[in-house]
Amino acid sequence: MAAKIYTITSGKGGTGKSIFAVNLAAALAGLAKKTLLIDADLGMADIGLMLGLENNKITLHEVLADEANVADALYDGPNGLKVLPGSLSLEGFKKADPSRIKNVINELAQNFEFMIIDTPTGINNATAASIEVCDEVLLVLTPDIVSIADGSKMKAFSTLLGKEVTGMILNRTMPVHDETYREKIMSSLDIKILEVLPEDVSIPNSIVGKSPVVTKYPYCEVAIAMNRLAALFSGIKMPEPEEGKGQKKQKNEKKRIPGAKLPFSQSKK
Ligand SMILES: Nc1ncnc2c1ncn2[C@@H]1O[C@H](COP(=O)(O)OP(=O)(O)OP(=O)(O)O)[C@@H](O)[C@H]1O
Ligand SMILES: [Mg+2]
Repeated sequence: MAAKIYTITSGKGGTGKSIFAVNLAAALAGLAKKTLLIDADLGMADIGLMLGLENNKITLHEVLADEANVADALYDGPNGLKVLPGSLSLEGFKKADPSRIKNVINELAQNFEFMIIDTPTGINNATAASIEVCDEVLLVLTPDIVSIADGSKMKAFSTLLGKEVTGMILNRTMPVHDETYREKIMSSLDIKILEVLPEDVSIPNSIVGKSPVVTKYPYCEVAIAMNRLAALFSGIKMPEPEEGKGQKKQKNEKKRIPGAKLPFSQSKK
């Protein structure tokens, strides 16, 4: 087995890369795919915090500092997901050697079906290594001009490293970002929009609850879209979300919210 590796990037900061990476990984794991989520944002390693794994002493940073084996830095996440978090400390950042990232990822690839790599903002060594080692590069962009411009630069950076961007996810959309607006973004970047994720209070709520929306708020529109994407990547038909089974519905959460309409076919490149 050699994992299919997805690297999540953006260009501009704060577009929702980490949230997306957490939810895509949890959604794939929920489809019974052996999935590993890696936090390659060595400067601001947020994934551990997002999943309640922040108190673990052995992380990717210790592995990159050659102080620990990678097997000891893997933790259990939701849906049977495995997580390789990073350290929150500045000490951890100082001692980690980013040039080892590729080796760590390649070593782990034999044990998983999917690997999702969250990267830091902007152009840097960790992002370059994560792009070079992956099969698919995904951009998570917000629908504003700065994010789109930085996404375009990241696309060019990826091409420079020999990887074409597979597709983009438009995050934090509002009703004003209609089909015409989205088509303009697609044609200006020449990248397919794979999913549209609306601005949704379930996201900050899920961070407070240290769980992905796909497990905590499975009826919210973002969760439904994430499951749809995971199913697309897995090549399997998406199961309908089931109500109940310990999953509390959020206040005001509708029973079924239709997914965002996409102005193009969802077939994979
Ligand atoms: N669809 C959404 N609806 C509402 N809030 C969102 C949505 N997506 C992301 N956010 C919020 O945006 C913030 C940034 O998200 P996240 O940390 O995932 O971005 P990032 O791209 O990883 O940031 P960084 O560049 O710092 O790594 C978070 O506070 C999160 O709650
Ligand atoms: Mg992040």
